[in-house]
Amino acid sequence: MKISFDTKPQKTDAFVAFATEGGKLLEPGKWADKKTGGALKRAIEAEKFEAKKGQTLVVPGPQGLPHSHVIIVGLGKPEELKEKDFEKLGGTVVSILNGRKASSAEMAFRTDGAKIKNIDPRHAAARMATGALLSAYRFDKYLTKEPKEKKPTLKSLAFTVEDPAKVKKLFSEDQKVADAVYLVRDLVSEAPNVLYPESFATIIKKELSPLGVDVNILDARDIERKGMGALMAVGQGSAREPKLVSMEYRGAGKKDPTVCFVGKGVTFDTGGISIKPGPGMEEMKWDMAGAAAVTGLMKALAAREAKVNAVGVVALAENMPSGTACRPGDIVTTMSGQTVEILNTDAEGRLILCDALWYAQEEFEPTHIVDLATLTGAVIIALGHEYGGIFCNDSDFARDLIEAGKTVGEELWRMPLNDAWDKAIDSPAADMKNISGGRDAGSAIGAHFLKRFIQDGVKWAHLDIAGVAWANKDRVSVPKGASAFGVRLLDRYVAENWEK
Ligand code: BES
Ligand code: MN
Ligand code: ZN
Repeated sequence: MKISFDTKPQKTDAFVAFATEGGKLLEPGKWADKKTGGALKRAIEAEKFEAKKGQTLVVPGPQGLPHSHVIIVGLGKPEELKEKDFEKLGGTVVSILNGRKASSAEMAFRTDGAKIKNIDPRHAAARMATGALLSAYRFDKYLTKEPKEKKPTLKSLAFTVEDPAKVKKLFSEDQKVADAVYLVRDLVSEAPNVLYPESFATIIKKELSPLGVDVNILDARDIERKGMGALMAVGQGSAREPKLVSMEYRGAGKKDPTVCFVGKGVTFDTGGISIKPGPGMEEMKWDMAGAAAVTGLMKALAAREAKVNAVGVVALAENMPSGTACRPGDIVTTMSGQTVEILNTDAEGRLILCDALWYAQEEFEPTHIVDLATLTGAVIIALGHEYGGIFCNDSDFARDLIEAGKTVGEELWRMPLNDAWDKAIDSPAADMKNISGGRDAGSAIGAHFLKRFIQDGVKWAHLDIAGVAWANKDRVSVPKGASAFGVRLLDRYVAENWEK
């Protein structure tokens, strides 16, 4: 979708005006009302349109204006508006316009006179554009027979604002992050016969190398040589070999500290020999959402030339049952030297991550490390689809991540760590086992397994995103489907905590 900013109106299909609660039109709306001989005010009265936040009123074929429709968008009480609300409004407008089959629209957002407390109208307009863009995402590459009437019609949004240069500048930063969100949604939505470790690694290289990111791909032989026995074990049942990809971006000084982001990239999780039940198994194509988010985050950081030293590491494997698959009972040696008894081959995320975490720490010596993983079904039982779970060994670090999530609408909820759950993975046969054997605190057990691979002094956060990686219904800025949860959150976290 094309988005532009100007002071003067452009020639468009539809005209979008804004009104505050009680149906008070902002300046461009007043102008349009005059042009139509008062038709807008009459429509507002006739429909008893209150202009509450998010309410819309459509006036078709207004006389005196060249537009197919005038759409009046309610802002509610100005003093209650938050910047985040504008993102939602942007998305609302897109769906109304598509519903009316408009191909273009003028977004007349000039606030002259009307006071919108605490809100910079330039930020509001940029945020509205971001919301419009994010809500317009679709994964339709395989819909070869979709009738034209079902395709979205909206191709462009032309904002009229007071300070277009500034709004454009603000939006151009957001747009880079939105581009990364689109990439992540494409990756997560992609079919598992098309996206597998090798093809995933190729896409990472193609997307990130041109932005100056140093992409390094380890293949099965390298993984074996490095001693990553747990990652190997998960990958060995598949005809498609595992990969480990690092993405090194140096936007700060040589001596500045490094932050690492590590992602779970199981391109398909059958459960392996501990095979999952058939119904719903297709959902496990998105068991690589953590790795996709890390990829997207690195793309966003590099594209906007963030002043940070950041490294992404993703472990990519396909968890399949076969004659070469690992078995329950197998004992493997991880890159850290610690041994693991694999008692359930479906608890594979922690196995690939433990080697990726260790590799990231040995290779890049980060002070902070965040891992993202669709790790446990248990986190969905605990937090549903409203929050990602965060397990963290440092309260300030946890707070900073949670705060960043709030501003972008990707919310995290802190979960506890406890020595009792660490003990629960002791094994009589190896240094640890990959499950506790019970049903208690399933997400925390997974977190404690990972914690055993965090080196002394490293600040670490584990985000269990199993409940939020895929939206089962349309949400603010997130159409049903792959959400790209984590990209905007971590981009914000970096902007607020590493670039200032
Ligand atoms: N990928 C799954 C977790 C998952 C479940 C993600 C549902 C999204 C939706 C993970 O690999 C898994 O299978 N976890 C097991 C762990 C168990 C065997 C300890 C689970 O949650 O059942
Ligand atoms: Mn699994
Ligand atoms: Zn999994």
